[in-house]
Amino acid sequence: MTKVNKIIEPMGSWKRTNSCGELRKEDIGKSTILMGWVQSRRDHGGLIFIDLRDRSGITQIVFDPEDSAEAHQKAHYIKNEYVIAIEGIVVTRLAGSENPNIPTGEIEVKAKQIKILNLSEALPFNIDDKLEINDNLRLKYRYLDLRRPKMQINMNLRHQTCMEIRNYLNNKGFLDIETPFLTKSTPEGARDYIVPSRVNPGKFYALPQSPQLFKQLLMIAGFERYYQIVRCFRDEDLRADRAPEFTQLDMEMSFIDREEIFNLIEEMFVHLFKRILNIKIKTPFLKIDYQEAISKYGTDKPDLRFGMEIIDLSEIFQDSSFRIFQDVIKNKGKIGAIKIEGDKEFSRKKLDDWQLFISSFGAKGLAYIKFKEGKDFQSSIAKFLSLEEIENIKIKTNAKPGEIILIIADQEKVVYEALGNLRINLANDLNLINQDQKEFNFLWVTDFPLLKYNLEEKRYDSVHHPFTAPLNEDLDLLGSDPLKVRSKAYDLVLNGNEVGGGSIRIHNNDLQKKIFKLLGIDDKIAEQKFGFLLQALKYGAPPHGGIAFGLDRMVMLLTGAHSIREVIAFPKTQKATCPLTDAPSEVENKQLKELHIKLDLP
Ligand code: AMO
Repeated sequence: MTKVNKIIEPMGSWKRTNSCGELRKEDIGKSTILMGWVQSRRDHGGLIFIDLRDRSGITQIVFDPEDSAEAHQKAHYIKNEYVIAIEGIVVTRLAGSENPNIPTGEIEVKAKQIKILNLSEALPFNIDDKLEINDNLRLKYRYLDLRRPKMQINMNLRHQTCMEIRNYLNNKGFLDIETPFLTKSTPEGARDYIVPSRVNPGKFYALPQSPQLFKQLLMIAGFERYYQIVRCFRDEDLRADRAPEFTQLDMEMSFIDREEIFNLIEEMFVHLFKRILNIKIKTPFLKIDYQEAISKYGTDKPDLRFGMEIIDLSEIFQDSSFRIFQDVIKNKGKIGAIKIEGDKEFSRKKLDDWQLFISSFGAKGLAYIKFKEGKDFQSSIAKFLSLEEIENIKIKTNAKPGEIILIIADQEKVVYEALGNLRINLANDLNLINQDQKEFNFLWVTDFPLLKYNLEEKRYDSVHHPFTAPLNEDLDLLGSDPLKVRSKAYDLVLNGNEVGGGSIRIHNNDLQKKIFKLLGIDDKIAEQKFGFLLQALKYGAPPHGGIAFGLDRMVMLLTGAHSIREVIAFPKTQKATCPLTDAPSEVENKQLKELHIKLDLP
């Protein structure tokens, strides 16, 4: 055993009397026992100072040979992240050496005794928020990364969010009921994670993409109000706001309509923001329907912290002699524009950047017109447009001298997608969103189309999921023009992020079967995949609806983090791996054999 190891001692009968964030001026003179991690050690000639940290904060400890020669001697061995216990007296700090940045900054503890409870090797990175640390390294040593103050705050805030959600919903008569993880596929648009069943060779469970069908069954079972803070699993392309396993606040209610759901949820967010950030959220939230969201902002999750709506210029170019615009109009495309307000100058390079940006959404070109005083203007398509067309653009966009109009002519979908994304890009480029002022802009997007067409598979797909009810007034269109049918689905959007989505459900067996047919699911497959639901719908299913929120996304927005990985204790990488545990990993042949699985690797 090395010399250093001999200095490790057991806690023995020592009990913590205080936490490291707790002591104040009022405690001066008290005897205290603190335990925690050594954040730093400074040797100032005769005195040794230690910043001792636990999850509540930091206290400065002083080792003075005049108080205790033994403790002072031991303090020489201490290194960062050693786990120690000290017993001492709370004293006031010397005038001028107070630290106003920490709540315990007016006091320090003079150590009389110290026990070294455990050692630490040199760390791969310091426990410090200021450092930029490589993501992979952070995840490999996540237990150290989580010691950093910011991560501690994030985890605390996540806990608090869950507690406040539970308090609110428990008071509203919701029951927390668990649903299975080993189950059948629930179609939410992603691939399933599947789990082989050893006792049923050749058969597989799917991990739930959401508890959708179980929560509907709970309504049929008569529970009326259900919620669960639950893990969901989706094998999909990952991004900053998407993880392969993530957490939903999942809810379902019976005998309820959309308005009631909106009110209940708005009240919940008022409660959460008040309790967690002490911010008063304004209600009712704005509601816009899907069509309006797309035509004004090019997306179903618009960020309304800034304007810059998309303007439809198609009307102006019905008889244009400009070939490109002519073709677009002839092919039932669109000519859309956004306006950059104020008198701004842009370099050629900036315009090229935007051009490149929109091309990633399939748009072929980005034209611009900069209006000047009087009739003067400058444009990349000046020689193709008539003066009348230019004047009409000016009127339609209400452009003032100095303002720039950016124009895309293409298929409708491309125009909206490209301009919608360009709008966000410009907001960042031009600092249109005031980041200092914490603005939380909530918005309900309603009346999503029920179906979209899947060109590859030549059938319809659900826009939300197959259990979403159509709007009553559109039911007749199901037979004649299914793509025109709107649904009773809604999303909650916060600052351009989809934080939740839900719908009123189909509670009628015949209608559910009809929707399955439109989705290319014939009776036989419907029976195989969803027979249990169709059966249950025959036994007195109440009208019901619900919603699910991405809890990780909610906490991300509450903390101001830029990725949900910052608010998940043990997240996966973008490639769905875990550098800490090395999952996913190979399994033994014996295990595969038991499962009757043979690998056929490329
Ligand atoms: P949906 O699929 O819209 O609806 O999911 C609800 C919310 O969950 C969050 N979310 C995710 N968060 C992190 N990583 C992911 N991979 C991920 N996927 C989704 C989003 C989203 O708004 N069963 C329906 C809800 C219902 O109809 O009641 C459902 O799951 O914030």
